Amino acid sequence: AAGVGRNSDGELAVDGIPVSKLKEQFGTPLFIMSESDFRARARSFKDAFDEAFADICGGVDVYYAGKSFLCSAVARWVAEEGLRLDTCSGGELAVAARAGIDGAELSLHGNNKSDAEINRALDMKLGRIVVDSLDELERVAKIASERGETAKVMLRLTPGVHAHTHEFIATAHEDQKFGLSMAGDSTDQAGLSAAEEAVAAATSYASIELLGLHCHIGSQIFEPDGFALAAVKLLGFLAEMQAKYSIRLPELDLGGGYGIAYTPVDTPRPPADIAQAMAAVVRSQCAELGIAAPRISIEPGRAIVGPSTFTLYEVGTRKTVRVDAPAAGDAATPETGGENVTHPRRYVSVDGGMSDNARPVLYDADYSAILASRASAAAPQLSRVVGKHCESGDIVVRDVYLPEDVAAGDLLAVPGTGAYCWALSSNYNYLARPGVVAVRDGSPRLIVRGETEEDLLNRDMGA
Ligand code: LLP
Repeated sequence: AAGVGRNSDGELAVDGIPVSKLKEQFGTPLFIMSESDFRARARSFKDAFDEAFADICGGVDVYYAGKSFLCSAVARWVAEEGLRLDTCSGGELAVAARAGIDGAELSLHGNNKSDAEINRALDMKLGRIVVDSLDELERVAKIASERGETAKVMLRLTPGVHAHTHEFIATAHEDQKFGLSMAGDSTDQAGLSAAEEAVAAATSYASIELLGLHCHIGSQIFEPDGFALAAVKLLGFLAEMQAKYSIRLPELDLGGGYGIAYTPVDTPRPPADIAQAMAAVVRSQCAELGIAAPRISIEPGRAIVGPSTFTLYEVGTRKTVRVDAPAAGDAATPETGGENVTHPRRYVSVDGGMSDNARPVLYDADYSAILASRASAAAPQLSRVVGKHCESGDIVVRDVYLPEDVAAGDLLAVPGTGAYCWALSSNYNYLARPGVVAVRDGSPRLIVRGETEEDLLNRDMGA
């Protein structure tokens, strides 16, 4: 991340503040965020898409996906950088409200929104509610009608585009819980797709203002092809609906999912490349269909916050075991060469683990780690960084070369932990969730306080 590097003592520093200072002040594990990096990435998405789409629809609305990481400070930065905010629960709406974000700048997602969440969205006069099913459309229409109001609605469709990503986070196939199917296989008598049924119904409800269509094809995607294909499908459908129902659908949201580099094998493209590729497709497709381009919006989360943050851990116990054959999934390393040979594997335990980063255990996600508290000239040794949880799958980094002399008390940094780490954190084994420190212009500020033992015991009602 910008502003992160080694100082003259060889210690990792953020904006000039050495990690040992941050540990002293805030403890470990700790999420350390570069505010300038976050802001720069937010701006670069906004600028790249605005530029690419300027002549098509006058720019793009970028909704930062709060599910990746949200607190009121971040909500504020997002607004200050000219982005909007995508939320997916009443809790996220509450954070946005605390940060003073105008409801018009907010969207609300979710496949099972409660009546309370829908009412809250209407109370806050949300810019858009992204409706996920026919059931929900009816419910939103009813609630809005009872309130004598009009709900601004987008319809989330499943365009059947399979993004090249981990199975659990690809969300565009038909056979999944999200969205309205575009395939003509619905149970509707007239043989309409669920997507078309929803357009027809939304158009008929006086309490619904149908703004347009939405899709989200998956996450951690590197190539623009999937986004482009989804855009083609949605534009075709949008043109068909406009003609058939004599309506205008002024907006099209193409979701999030832009990938980042977790390890050197990951090669994401810069936002400008993706934006240009998507713009080219939208431009030519609208021309071919003979329609005015809708206003485009996107919802990046990971690509904005992921690289801005690293997790700082303290090393505790170590042990070395002999491994007779490389286990499936082991990296081909100089020691193993991918062969059946005996090699040592060193386990390096840190003071957090799956409670502050569940992604390795959930998605087999790869991370890297570096010795952060000092420089070392010791020989590199194949290491596995593990957490302190009572579970053998509690791996932080599966295979990484760390200096042989890494010892208890050293600090390790695991980069790229800004997205879906704090957000997915838990109290497993009664560990306290770490805090989040944002560094800006050389000063650290706690934006989320770490939990204390008192927090952990707070909800225990006593013996
Ligand atoms: N929009 C919608 C409707 C979404 O469902 C998501 C993510 C996003 C935007 C933002 O996607 P991003 O740009 O951050 O990829 N926990 C998983 C990722 C789950 C993604 C859920 N939806 C992980 O850690 O990989």
